[in-house]
Amino acid sequence: MEFKIAFIGFGVVGQGLAEILIEQKEALKELYNFNFKVVAISDVMKGSIYNQNGLDLQKLLDLVKTTGKIEDYPEGIKGWDSLQTITDTNSNLILEVAWTDLTTGEPALTHVKTALQNKKHVVMTNKGPIALAVRELLSLAKEKNVEMRYEGTVLSGTPALNLGLYNLAGAGITAARGIVNGTTNYILTEMEKGMDYDAALKQAQDLGYAEADPTADVEGYDALGKIVILANTVMGASLKKDEPSCEGITKITSEDIKKAKEDGYRWKLIAGAEIKNDGSVDAYVRPEKIPLDHPLANIMGPTNALTYSTKYLGDVTIVGPGAGRAPTGFALLTDILDINRLLSKS
Ligand code: HSE
Repeated sequence: MEFKIAFIGFGVVGQGLAEILIEQKEALKELYNFNFKVVAISDVMKGSIYNQNGLDLQKLLDLVKTTGKIEDYPEGIKGWDSLQTITDTNSNLILEVAWTDLTTGEPALTHVKTALQNKKHVVMTNKGPIALAVRELLSLAKEKNVEMRYEGTVLSGTPALNLGLYNLAGAGITAARGIVNGTTNYILTEMEKGMDYDAALKQAQDLGYAEADPTADVEGYDALGKIVILANTVMGASLKKDEPSCEGITKITSEDIKKAKEDGYRWKLIAGAEIKNDGSVDAYVRPEKIPLDHPLANIMGPTNALTYSTKYLGDVTIVGPGAGRAPTGFALLTDILDINRLLSKS
């Protein structure tokens, strides 16, 4: 089969995937029999373009760099909004990479529902729809006989969800705990080196780690969304986004960081979920002082880490990038290849 891809949103993540697709096109075809063309892109800021025969991704990336407008692309239909791009193009795979809103999930939630209702596969890194409505969306995908994947919503391309879902299936997961927000870990790391909070946050934004509204990062809501997604996906929970307790890093001062270090600790924003004896799942996000000899204390910068506690394997930890252009772009690719593998078998 040939994937005909439409990007909804073409910011850091979408461009990250586009760069990988250009670089790896031949290898992906040869190694995984993965064939694709990108037929449409619709972005609120950069405009939209559709050509049923395929678009030149490099030309589009060049336009983003030079004019910032993909509508300057020489040929194709222009001006379609995200919903028309989803419904009226010949795309069969929608990549939802518009901005994240963890309160309403919109506009991404409507994008995803519309795509599934129109029997198109969906891959996304957008946490909003998944944190709010994963069950509803998965059952809609099943009803319409299409696939939906969202590995990149937790730890970007580092395979946190797939590890729990596939590789640890049957291992008896009892808990998961770790550092799941790159921005705050980056800020805490830079503050320890002497930078002030505002400058560290600005750098995290410039490097593409932070959310469009970084309040979501620093107040812990992004980590909360991720632990809810993880618990609901991997631990059979049905947590609502507002149920777990949540505290971010805004109250931690440079003085606190220094003092903790002197005492042999390091502040980290920790997200966790645990299956209780009655089968219910408790989750939380909170800053914790971690002893310096603990593995989580040595996860620095935008790197994330997640430890699954399991009945038969003990603790299994995965460490890797949790944010950024290429890692999150790769998250989309890993999901697309998973769908390709599945559909190639049927
Ligand atoms: N803002 C998020 C973070 C991006 O810093 O981890 C990846 O989800």
